[in-house]
Amino acid sequence: MYKTWEDLEKSIINCQKCKLCKQRQNIVFGTGNKEADIMFIGEGPGADEDRLGEPFVGRAGKLMNMAFDVVGIKREEVYIANVVKCRPPGNRNPEDDEANSCLDYLRNQVILVKPKIIVLLGSVALKNILGKEYGITASRGKIIEKKGIIYIPTWHPAALLRDENKKVDFIRDLQKVLNEYKMLRDK
Ligand code: URA
Repeated sequence: MYKTWEDLEKSIINCQKCKLCKQRQNIVFGTGNKEADIMFIGEGPGADEDRLGEPFVGRAGKLMNMAFDVVGIKREEVYIANVVKCRPPGNRNPEDDEANSCLDYLRNQVILVKPKIIVLLGSVALKNILGKEYGITASRGKIIEKKGIIYIPTWHPAALLRDENKKVDFIRDLQKVLNEYKMLRDK
């Protein structure tokens, strides 16, 4: 584990731990407030993220930004990262070996950010962080506390593009995130 952001960021620059390095344009490390109380974890970069080197800047990201605006979350105040830092070809889900090679970076990011709340965006984030026994449909909107961190799983923003009905759930889950945050802050 690296104790500074500088060392962690340096350690990933030429990463070749898995086959996703072969086709990447950019490593998508993470963005936002490195001392955030709330951290969001997605799945992996898509084409836009790969091109620009920043998470959630494509269609799903724009939708997430709109939902942030609705509930009053400022993107620059939270920290946003992904399970895998390089784009899986054709936007397929990351394979287990790819996620497993990359998860140490994410664990290190969590240790450095020290978030009070982690929002797990979709099934890939949920299963890789909390375990394969969790399912997104049953877990979304629930508050799951582990080792002093509150996890709140919700739909992946890309799922909202496919199913309008999920937008209401997503907004509700984000409101829950903010309520939890305010409760922890005012304790
Ligand atoms: N989907 C993700 O899971 N992460 C991104 O950064 C973009 C789309």
